[in-house]
Amino acid sequence: MVTQSATILRRLYFLERELVRLAAGWLPGTAHWEAKLLLPEVMWESSLLTRELRQRILELRYPERRIAPDVDEPWVQLFRRCGDAPGAPAFLVAVAEVVKPALLVAYRRYQEVADRLDDGPTQYLLRHGIADLEAQVVRLRAAAAAALAAAPGEAAAARAWSKAVAAVFGAISADDLLQAPAPPSADALVAAGRPLAISRHAARDPRFHRVAFAWPDRHTPGHPGEGIRLRARQAVHHVNEVWAAEMAAACLYDLAPAAPPEFLEEAARWCYDEIRHCRMGYERLRTWGFSDAEIPLDAFSYDAGAAADPLVRLGIIFYFEATYIHTKKERTIIFGAMGDRLSAHDMDFDWADELIHTHYGKRWLEAFLAQSGDARSVADIKEEARQAVLRLQARATPEDQAAAATIQARILLRMATLAPDGGEALP
Ligand SMILES: [Fe+2]
Ligand SMILES: [Fe+2]
Repeated sequence: MVTQSATILRRLYFLERELVRLAAGWLPGTAHWEAKLLLPEVMWESSLLTRELRQRILELRYPERRIAPDVDEPWVQLFRRCGDAPGAPAFLVAVAEVVKPALLVAYRRYQEVADRLDDGPTQYLLRHGIADLEAQVVRLRAAAAAALAAAPGEAAAARAWSKAVAAVFGAISADDLLQAPAPPSADALVAAGRPLAISRHAARDPRFHRVAFAWPDRHTPGHPGEGIRLRARQAVHHVNEVWAAEMAAACLYDLAPAAPPEFLEEAARWCYDEIRHCRMGYERLRTWGFSDAEIPLDAFSYDAGAAADPLVRLGIIFYFEATYIHTKKERTIIFGAMGDRLSAHDMDFDWADELIHTHYGKRWLEAFLAQSGDARSVADIKEEARQAVLRLQARATPEDQAAAATIQARILLRMATLAPDGGEALP
């Protein structure tokens, strides 16, 4: 019946939201590159499912608008404990091997029993959610295995954690997960784990060239240059937008619990967009022949928010978006005119995303300020954010500056041998 269906969907909704938030909480502390690139995409897909679930619950209970976990709170708490892993590889392994597969079985079970005719809209969302979840499990397993192989020192702890999670989830049937009033005890997870504390400093994969500032204009903003210099600079800045994905994730982790439900959905999208921008730079640099070890990664823009309050962290992304958005359209045209169609294509899509992001930034800063009764204005937050960034840039040592200059010179030297589209070496 309708009430029972809405009750099941409500549980799935809150469990999905919890997993999105846990993934966001682990993103900054995840060093492994492929895992770092994958988590935002998984978060975004899951956030689409939460939106569909929320919409369907509201339809089934119309005109009731309130959705609260109520009796599902113990289940949400159990899922929350799955974030208390001893490290990022352990979190990934348990999610990939145990938690997501358990959810998948529950979704399939519900798909089996939900009415195909009367509850057609639910069938539709289940079908799409299941397809995403199946693909996620495959990709997460591969990323988790690779992250473990890259961190052999963490393997034993990760396996022990995954085993503890599996022991708890092994006692949960699909029907339990959908409908049982109380979950099994989470004591074993409390004993085996440690409470998730989101990293306020961004972890970077040791395969890359890790530096304090990846390009000279990151510590001393100035003219970005022209021609090859601008193309190289843009690709390096793009790959370093990994910080913006991390900051969006941190904002989701910090602010979503007390925010309207749309915030989680938009922050997950924001995070995914920024990791796509990062991948644009990464793929461009790889196409141009640079190895991971030659690609510079810094973390200062994320780290600038380490001591800030959550709204200033949101302000830091907003500050960067609002300050540099005009460059996107300009560079689409410049790169196109230079014959670098790939970079022009990237900038055009980047620009489309940034237009949405500046809307997100303004919308949510205003909403959170109003909600908390904070006396600051959006302009105050933006200024605090700017100061936080300037403080970190001011810490650039002569060695940091020399390192950034060396990186720039080395990359430009190599690029001078490439054709505008990056593919063909010039004779
Ligand atoms: Fe971006
Ligand atoms: Fe953005």
